[in-house]
Amino acid sequence: MEPQKKHCFYFLLTLTILPIYASTALGGKRGGGVLAGGWQPIKNITEPHVKEIGQYAVEEYNKESKSQLKFVSVVKGETQVMAGTNYRLMLATKDGALAKNYQAVVWEKVWEHFRNLTSFTRLKA
Ligand SMILES: *[C@@H]1O[C@H](CO)[C@@H](O)[C@H](O)[C@H]1NC(C)=O
Ligand SMILES: *[C@@H]1O[C@H](CO)[C@@H](O)[C@H](O)[C@H]1NC(C)=O
Repeated sequence: MEPQKKHCFYFLLTLTILPIYASTALGGKRGGGVLAGGWQPIKNITEPHVKEIGQYAVEEYNKESKSQLKFVSVVKGETQVMAGTNYRLMLATKDGALAKNYQAVVWEKVWEHFRNLTSFTRLKA
């Protein structure tokens, strides 16, 4: 290869490989989503919409499992863009006097007014 072309080749190689490396590094950190759709921390968990998603998760869980959990707060959360938004929230709840933490995943498509509780699992305190 002529030096000129060689340089060009490496330049192209860098352009191709860098984005793949960068997205893998970002997505792979949590072992979650790859490429598009990595989990991003929610910056402000006191936003009313985040609270609403948390309350929805608890209500939905109560309906499905005939429980009586009371929503207390969203402790932390992450979102993932995926044909809408996935919310993965750590929730504080009360079961009677007992404090219980859960991790809820809610899938929301705002424009379709669609929400679904994908998972709701107890976290050890
Ligand atoms: C977080 O959201 C709440 C409610 O919308 C708002 O009052 C507060 O100022 C926000 N905090 C930050 C740091 O943006
Ligand atoms: C919503 O999630 C439940 C499981 O939590 C599932 O059985 C149901 O099919 C889902 N509904 C839709 C419309 O995706």
